[in-house]
Amino acid sequence: MQIQQHSFLVTGGASGLGEAVVRAIVNEGGKVVIADLNESTGQALVDELGDNVRFVRCDITSGEEVQAAVNKAEEAFGGLQGSINCAGIAVVQKLLDRENNPAELDAFSRGVNINLVGSFNVARLVAASIAKRITNNSDTENVAEKNTDNGVIINTASIAAFDGQVGQASYASSKAGVVGLTLPLARELARHGIRVMTIAPGVFATPMMDTIPEKAREQLEAGVPYPKRLGAPNEFAKLVTHIIDNAYLNGEVIRLDGAIRMV
Ligand SMILES: NC(=O)c1ccc[n+]([C@@H]2O[C@H](COP(=O)([O-])OP(=O)(O)OC[C@H]3O[C@@H](n4cnc5c(N)ncnc54)[C@H](O)[C@@H]3O)[C@@H](O)[C@H]2O)c1
Repeated sequence: MQIQQHSFLVTGGASGLGEAVVRAIVNEGGKVVIADLNESTGQALVDELGDNVRFVRCDITSGEEVQAAVNKAEEAFGGLQGSINCAGIAVVQKLLDRENNPAELDAFSRGVNINLVGSFNVARLVAASIAKRITNNSDTENVAEKNTDNGVIINTASIAAFDGQVGQASYASSKAGVVGLTLPLARELARHGIRVMTIAPGVFATPMMDTIPEKAREQLEAGVPYPKRLGAPNEFAKLVTHIIDNAYLNGEVIRLDGAIRMV
């Protein structure tokens, strides 16, 4: 699918990987609605990048708020061609603390709710918007046979989905859930000509990484076989734009990680 003149919902687009995706899409002539909790940085990006970008303050776990962001794309740009879901949080919590007290259930649930339930929420509302638009504009009963590449939904998991470390029970299981969404959604949406892909990033230099201690960050960086550094957000964005462009990528999870395997 071409990016030029097409519009995409980018959740988490006010920071880190999502921000790099917003910049890459606009750079290639596309349009973006940023859906993020962070109003000030989201609005600053709109001011910088101009009329092809809109911001909607949105919690991806809310049906009403994500619907409002989808509505904004329909009003401003005539509809969506896809979404890139980058909103997410890192929850670090062991099952038992030093005194063997159990973990807080709420912290576990929060990670799963934002990372997994939020991804499903965005996928369902974006898919509905694209499928309704296609059905209204199409004279065919089987869009898939026409291979028209009507939409693409890209979710962000993490290598923690496969190599979860101690303390990552909530994060790793929420991201494993995002991996698990990929194939059933791709199979279901095939009849609408909508693809579903997931990227599992390794360790990237974003504000999320700033939340972990310097020493742990250095250890992670040292664990990347090649290139021996953190990933750059624009490297993530390059994979996103390739997935949008390459219609044969569907129902798959791609690790983007410099060959790191966390232990
Ligand atoms: N940075 C990494 O090394 C790394 C590695 C693997 C996976 N990831 C994943 O990539 C995604 C982006 O991470 P990042 O590093 O860019 O993080 P980041 O903290 O820089 O950006 C995340 C953005 O999501 C927004 N957000 C958080 N909760 C939200 C919610 N409920 N609704 C709407 N917006 C919300 C934040 O306001 C922020 O702008 C996350 O899903 C993260 O788990 C990051």
